[in-house]
Amino acid sequence: MGYSDQFFKALGIRADGGGNLEKFAKQSGVSAKRLKYYNENNLVPTGGDLNKIIATANISELLLRLKMGRFDKDIIEAIQNNSEVIFPIIEEHAKTIEPHANSCTLAFETKLGKLYKGDCFDLLKIMDSDSVDLVFADPPFNLSKLYPSEINDNIRIEKYIYWCQEWIKECARVLKPGGAIFLWNLPKWNVALTSCLEGMLTFRHWIAVDIKYSLPIQNRLYPSHYSLLYYIKGDKPNTFHPDRLAMDVCPKCYGDIKDYGGYKDKMNPTGVNICDIWTDIAPVRHAKYKRRKGSNELSLKLLDRIIEMASDEGDLVFDPFGGSGTTYMAAELKGRRWVGCEIGPCDVIQDRFSLIKEEQKILEGYRSTINSLFPEKTRLERVKRGLWTCESVKKKKQPNE
Ligand SMILES: C[S@@+](CC[C@H](N)C(=O)[O-])C[C@H]1O[C@@H](n2cnc3c(N)ncnc32)[C@H](O)[C@@H]1O
Repeated sequence: MGYSDQFFKALGIRADGGGNLEKFAKQSGVSAKRLKYYNENNLVPTGGDLNKIIATANISELLLRLKMGRFDKDIIEAIQNNSEVIFPIIEEHAKTIEPHANSCTLAFETKLGKLYKGDCFDLLKIMDSDSVDLVFADPPFNLSKLYPSEINDNIRIEKYIYWCQEWIKECARVLKPGGAIFLWNLPKWNVALTSCLEGMLTFRHWIAVDIKYSLPIQNRLYPSHYSLLYYIKGDKPNTFHPDRLAMDVCPKCYGDIKDYGGYKDKMNPTGVNICDIWTDIAPVRHAKYKRRKGSNELSLKLLDRIIEMASDEGDLVFDPFGGSGTTYMAAELKGRRWVGCEIGPCDVIQDRFSLIKEEQKILEGYRSTINSLFPEKTRLERVKRGLWTCESVKKKKQPNE
């Protein structure tokens, strides 16, 4: 993993360990270890290191930035002001990029959706602009995972970012004005992808979904959340009806856990407002619930929440990375049309649809616990224990009104 040695190339250092790295380090007074760090992360040095490096390589900071593709405000302004001159050069370069053959075929269809087998770029190519209401994407994370599709999940950093930028650009094209796009990824990658999103869409939320996904790492904070980026096309969402959540109560005694400002009578009986930190999405770990071997299946609850929030019945939902088909299952169960793609085996997704009744029960289970401050079971337990409920608070309030 890493970037494509743009830093070394700009300084004339051989990346194959041909010997001149040590020489450059000695001449510049910047250690070989540090030079490698700048190269592997494609970082423009700052301060003392920058001065020493550019003096040794006899290169200006500006040329170094250009060669590394790290543009600052001055470069961007110069490009904007000289776009007519630069345009033919870039256009000529684009012609050298080979188009690849279209390999997308219909794998199966349901009452509401279609799954294609192949590369999502091929599917996107034949999709109409402004045609999709909601995009959800959970791409491979470039973590060297072995997928059934055997895709390379360990590519150079900038190649991964460019790849993501390309499908994001296409997803933005097919999204309807007012439509929503949700990107699920590690914070590290979503941070890098925001620059591309910011150039086309409007930011709504960075949702932190509290799921532990790796073991504690020395000298790091314990990675505990996935990032769910939420953008829309244009300035106003066509649809926004987030679920409301039940009040947190003790699972044993059903008593209050949090003080919601002390205003029991002001609490909305349909539940509390959902915030941008989601702590109630459990990972799909248990083999019994997994539709596919491997660890990358998302929970139906997550997709239910997103689809409910940003689409209406009959809307079209698109997910370019099928996996085990969680998005498609949630869309079908919720009466949304859907279209999807998977480069690897699609039979897992098709088989999953033969168990749709089971999935329906799971979904109904989730939905019976939301949009009410005290879902029925909790309400009954609280009544039994003499704890306050929406009804008891309302009754108390009435005589003084
Ligand atoms: C992280 S998984 C998605 C899991 C899915 N959200 C679920 O809940 O089951 C990513 C999937 O994208 C597929 N994939 C990778 N590159 C692709 C491409 N270019 N086009 C279509 N699918 C691709 C992989 O084979 C993998 O199954």
